[in-house]
Amino acid sequence: MAPLISIKADGDRLEIVNQLLLPHVTEFIPIDSVEDAHDAIKTMKIRGAPAIASLAALSVSQHLTRGLNASPSPDYLASREALKSHVDKILAYLFTSRPTAVNLGAATRRLTKVLDDAVVAGTDPREIVTQLIAEGKAVADEDVGRNKEMAKWAGEWLLQRVKETGVDATGGVNVLTVCNTGSLATSGYGTALGMITYLHETNKLQKAYFTQTAPYHQGSRLTALELQTLHIPSVMICDTMVGSLFQHHNIHAVVVGADRIAKNGDTANKIGTYNAAVLAARHNIPFIVVAPISTVDLDVADGSHIPIEHRPAIEACLVRGILYPPEGEGKEVKQAQVMITPTGLEGIYNPSFDVTPAELISAIVTEKGVAVKKEGVSSFYLSEIV
Ligand code: MRU
Repeated sequence: MAPLISIKADGDRLEIVNQLLLPHVTEFIPIDSVEDAHDAIKTMKIRGAPAIASLAALSVSQHLTRGLNASPSPDYLASREALKSHVDKILAYLFTSRPTAVNLGAATRRLTKVLDDAVVAGTDPREIVTQLIAEGKAVADEDVGRNKEMAKWAGEWLLQRVKETGVDATGGVNVLTVCNTGSLATSGYGTALGMITYLHETNKLQKAYFTQTAPYHQGSRLTALELQTLHIPSVMICDTMVGSLFQHHNIHAVVVGADRIAKNGDTANKIGTYNAAVLAARHNIPFIVVAPISTVDLDVADGSHIPIEHRPAIEACLVRGILYPPEGEGKEVKQAQVMITPTGLEGIYNPSFDVTPAELISAIVTEKGVAVKKEGVSSFYLSEIV
C-alpha cells in the first residue's frame, strides 16, 4: 500500500486528510481559504510541525492564485503597498493558529521576506504574487527530500553508535518513538518515523515501538496506521510503559521529532517526550531528535522561552475512535468520542508539548547532518550549523 498523505495539492485545489477521523475513516476535506487552513490547524484536523507549515504556505499560494486569476482584479493587486498590507495580515493570522511549532513561523517569515524584498526592489504587484505563490509551494515541496536526507543521517549515526558501543543488535535494532512524525505529519516520509522507515528499508530494524501518546493518541491512531501501511514490524505501548519496556527489552534508541529546538538544543516536542528522555538516560539509551533545520529557533536561547501550547481541557477527557464491537446489521463503523472522566471535572492540566533539556539528547539530526555535544558540555551549539 502507498504511504499515507496529509495534503493533496493540485493547481489551486487543496485537500487534507481529516486526521481527527483516522485511522478508521479516511476522509479528504477541501481547504478553500486561509480561514479553512487556520481552522484545520487549530482544530488538529492536520497536525505535525512540518505539515502545518506546508498547509499554511499552500493556502497562501491558493489565495493568491485565485486573486491573480480573478476578474475584476482584487483591490490588493492595485499597488505594492496594498499587496503588502493584505499579505502581511494573512501571514499574521495564520501564524496565530498554533504557537509551539516554529516551522509555521519559519514559513510565514520566508513568505514575508520574498514580499519585502520584492517591494523594496519595486517589483510589479502581479509579479510579486507570482513569486509568493512559488515560494509557498516550495515550502511544501522541499519537505520530502530533506526528510529522506535526515532519516538516513540519523539511521546511519545510530548503527555506527551501536557498533562502537558493542551493544547486541542481532536481528536488527529496536527503536522507540513518541507521537506521529511520519507522512501524516510532514509532506512525506517523515522525520523520526523517516529514520525508522530508513532502518526498515535497509533491513536493519527489528521492531519499532511507539507510545499511544495520550491524550490525542497520535501514536495509537496515526503512527500505528503508518507503520501498518508500510508493513514495518511494530509494537504499541501505553505511555506509562516506557520504563518497563526499557527494563525488559533491548531498546537501542529513542527517536522523536521536534516542534521547536532552542539555540542550546533544548527541544519542545509532544507531551511525554521528556519522560521518555529521562528514562532513556537512566538506561543509557541514545536519545535522538530528527527535525528539519527550520525547527531550530536561534532567537530562543533555551527551552524555558519556548511557548508551550495548552489544549482545551475537554480534549484530555475524551478519546476518539469507533464503537467497538461494531453494532448493527452491516456492522458499520460508527465514529465516537467517549468521555473517560466524570462530566464537569475541574482542574485539568493539558499541555500539548514538553521540553527535553539538551543534556538528555544524544544527537540532533537535520538535513544538514548530525549535531552532537562537545566533550564535557551539556548544550549543543546549533548556531554553528544553522
Ligand atoms: O500536536 P501535534 O500532533 O501537532 O504534535 C506533533 C509533534 O509533537 C511532532 O513530534 C512534531 O510536530 C514533529 S512532526 C514531524
